Amino acid sequence: MNVTIVYDSIFGNTASIAKAVAGGLQGGNQIRLATVHEAGELDLSNTDLLIIGSPTRGFQPTPQIQEYLTGLRNFPSSMAAAVFDTRLDLETVQPAPLRWVIDVGGYAADRMAAALTHQHIELRGTPAAFLVTGNEGPLKTGELERAAKWAGDLSRNAEEALK
Ligand SMILES: Cc1cc2nc3c(=O)[nH]c(=O)nc-3n(C[C@H](O)[C@H](O)[C@H](O)COP(=O)(O)O)c2cc1C
Repeated sequence: MNVTIVYDSIFGNTASIAKAVAGGLQGGNQIRLATVHEAGELDLSNTDLLIIGSPTRGFQPTPQIQEYLTGLRNFPSSMAAAVFDTRLDLETVQPAPLRWVIDVGGYAADRMAAALTHQHIELRGTPAAFLVTGNEGPLKTGELERAAKWAGDLSRNAEEALK
């Protein structure tokens, strides 16, 4: 299976998750990992699975990821997609009422999933969220391992769908 991972990252946490996702994909996959700044150049014509990752900022993916999603063109009709975001661990947010505001505001992964569906791109797996314990990180302990596991499950699911 041919997998392209496109991500944005300001402080490096989403980049670390993207690398863990690449590492967790099943053997036998051809994997390309690109930042959203490099992604415009990529030819997606052989891509079976496009994985997109973004930090959640102001309840949204970054403007660059939003632009990438709305500008997606020339992808094969058989291409499926999966999404993940990074976001604050609500347990670390103070004062507590702010947790409610953040949660009600929503997250990048759901917005990316909606944008892909809008483009009639089928989603694989469940949108994933990986937690940071402060605005600039670090990632919560165990999130890299969880990202690798998510990727393994995802690639099994996507391989099945290709059969
Ligand atoms: C300006 C700004 C807005 C943010 N907005 C949200 C938000 O709405 N929800 C949330 O869960 N985290 C929010 N965060 C925390 C980010 O999700 C966190 O910075 C990001 O996961 C780090 O990823 P990166 O290191 O790849 O940039 C925000 C952080 C910044 C700096």
